[in-house]
Amino acid sequence: MNESIFILKGNLIYSKSAKELEVCENSYLVCEDGVVRGIYKTLPFEYGGYPVEDYGDRLIIPGLVDLHVHAPQYSFRGLGMDMELLEWLETNTFPEESKFCDMEYARKAYGIFVENLKKSATTRACIFATIHRQATLLLMDMLEEAGLDTMVGKVNMDRNSPDYLREASAEESAAETVEWIKDVLHKKYKHTKPILTPRFTPSCTDELMEKLKMIQMRYSLPLQSHLSENPGEISWVKELCPWSEFYGDAYDKFGLFGADCPTVMAHCVYSDDREIARMKENGVFVAHCPESNMNIASGVAPVRKFLDEGVHVGMGSDVAGGSTESIFTAMAHAIQASKLRWRLQDESLKPLTVEEAFFMATKGGGEFFGKVGSFEPGYELDAVVLDDTRLKHPQDLDVKKRLERMIYFSDDREICAKYVAGVQIL
Ligand code: GUN
Ligand code: FE
Repeated sequence: MNESIFILKGNLIYSKSAKELEVCENSYLVCEDGVVRGIYKTLPFEYGGYPVEDYGDRLIIPGLVDLHVHAPQYSFRGLGMDMELLEWLETNTFPEESKFCDMEYARKAYGIFVENLKKSATTRACIFATIHRQATLLLMDMLEEAGLDTMVGKVNMDRNSPDYLREASAEESAAETVEWIKDVLHKKYKHTKPILTPRFTPSCTDELMEKLKMIQMRYSLPLQSHLSENPGEISWVKELCPWSEFYGDAYDKFGLFGADCPTVMAHCVYSDDREIARMKENGVFVAHCPESNMNIASGVAPVRKFLDEGVHVGMGSDVAGGSTESIFTAMAHAIQASKLRWRLQDESLKPLTVEEAFFMATKGGGEFFGKVGSFEPGYELDAVVLDDTRLKHPQDLDVKKRLERMIYFSDDREICAKYVAGVQIL
């Protein structure tokens, strides 16, 4: 007997591509060493005798991936959004993030964030912390303990923010980042990784960007940031970096736009053809955050274009630009926003479908973590088991329709089990 083999049984749903949704009713999903071996309608003889978790008529989907969320902003989700980005940052975000120099506050606030993320359908996330090294490490301890698989960034900011949330110099910001990376390596986390996190171009001097590139090369780290979210932000970047061809180029000139290391950029609402071409060339991932883009009136990203061009796209909650960590809700928002964009802004870009939204929330974003987000053989087994009896009506619904309904109005009550890389955490 191979101790690492177990089997899940239920109605399996996963994406092969943005257009192909696979549904395997009443089937067996065999997992070995945390990895999917295969899906079978009848269990092959060789797997007889291994433990089977029979989830009956429930739905089993890959764990959802949140490519962009701000842990310290969880406290003001759903509040204070009658502003655009730059004013919103000054009014809500910077004052709240400054509180994370206090470890007691951080412990309470991050505790709530991690508890709720654990209860959600999300298994993987790319997370912004704050500029504070110790509180960031505490957040990473908590995520590791929760069993989620995440990338977490200590934020870099050395210009254009109030004294209370700005690192004194590029040297200090870089030195703190290196100290934080050393602390992280010392911890030997199994599923919590560091990711470089320059907040966005307006927050980071050229000197800091150069230093971050050196740190990236030394430690081979991925990177996350914000890109082309809001018109005021974009004109500001033009003033700050007059030498840049477009916003993304202001990262690329420092080698911080995906050419060497995996990179995910949130928003990309106003990315033009040149920026999209560069993202494609460099393999940059887009974190599409439709609720945030509506709440702080940023606009709607041209996701159809990203998909058609073959740019990697995943979903992001962007709490607290977004009000919820639910990636199901983000999927519904992505579809809804794309319909308004199509109707009101550009009829050449067709609205997104349920299949496409589900793909972005699973395999599309999952690729940032490796072979993640699908049940095809060789993928790490992240799975969420959903009991939709609370949502049912007397009519018969097929499995795909039941998934569609989960996307539009399920909540944590529907989640009855969750596995991350083959380990059950809920
Ligand atoms: N751009 C720079 N910082 C932020 C942030 O915290 N949230 C969002 N939505 N955009 C940003
Ligand atoms: Fe953000």
